[in-house]
Amino acid sequence: MNATHKVIFDTDPGVDDAMALYFALAHPNIDVVGITTVFGNVTVQQATENALYLVGIAGYKIPVAQGAPVPLSKAAGIPPGFIHGDDGLGNLKTRSTVKGRLEKYSAAEYIVAMARAHPGEITLVAAAPQTNLGLALKIEPDLPKLLKKVILMAGTVIEPGNVSPVAEANAWNDPDAADLVFTAGWDLTMVGLDVTHRVVLPCHFFDALAKKHNHLATTTLLHATDFYCSFYGMARPELGHACFAHDVLAFVYLVAPELFKIQEGCVRVATAGIANGQTMLDRHGKLSYPQPGWEPGRTPTRVCMQVDTDACIRLIESTLGSNWLRKPLIEE
Ligand code: BDR
Ligand code: CA
Repeated sequence: MNATHKVIFDTDPGVDDAMALYFALAHPNIDVVGITTVFGNVTVQQATENALYLVGIAGYKIPVAQGAPVPLSKAAGIPPGFIHGDDGLGNLKTRSTVKGRLEKYSAAEYIVAMARAHPGEITLVAAAPQTNLGLALKIEPDLPKLLKKVILMAGTVIEPGNVSPVAEANAWNDPDAADLVFTAGWDLTMVGLDVTHRVVLPCHFFDALAKKHNHLATTTLLHATDFYCSFYGMARPELGHACFAHDVLAFVYLVAPELFKIQEGCVRVATAGIANGQTMLDRHGKLSYPQPGWEPGRTPTRVCMQVDTDACIRLIESTLGSNWLRKPLIEE
């Protein structure tokens, strides 16, 4: 019997965040104890509304704490409505009113309170700009000792970036927070574009899922992924009507790390200039670089560099296809 992972999911839903959330709810070894939201794919208010909505229509009750509206110090950008829809879920035509409650704590306060209450037990899966984690570190510098581990969907090493030639969106959205997080000294794994660009999910995958379940949650996911796949159809025509799996792979790593090949080393993030948001992995390891910031002895990050694509897709399919959905919590 595999252990259950108690998880706080830090997210900016966002279509691939929605997929990731539903994978986490569906997987028998993941217990989502809380959700924290942040700006990114949409405003933080919209991200919160979406998190409450996605959870409620799937029939679950999970605490949601709203987080940062803007990066730590960089100027805020404009949410990419052309990728995720202006509402983050592919511009849903209608929404039911779901029962759900926002926590009184901010996301950073919530993460710290939960980590202090359950030391060594909670895994933080972050699939969004790392601003909430950066703020939580400022409140509680011992957070790396209090959390069990952190898994980030962020960054890229060899694969070209998706917002600049070298930067991935989550790292680029708040590079100062990302560099704080990569140098904080926790048990940290990076699931970046080097692997997420190897796992492509066709829209018919979500169509089959919606038909199988015939449930508001999976028809909502189909609507959102159809929009997302249309964006990728234009940006990356070679994919067809399909999208990258991105955020869900952070959860796949949590439950099936054997599907990934790892390289370990110190990761730093460029916080200014043309390389802003670039995640740089010291792949040499043995060289002692003289430059400040690369001193030996820094805590290494486990970086996912290769993935078993077919096994990942099979796991995502069997997990989301299982019997996990409940009666939607909708206001009558
Ligand atoms: C990441 O950026 C966001 O747009 C996605 O939700 C994902 O977290 C991919 O670069
Ligand atoms: Ca995301």
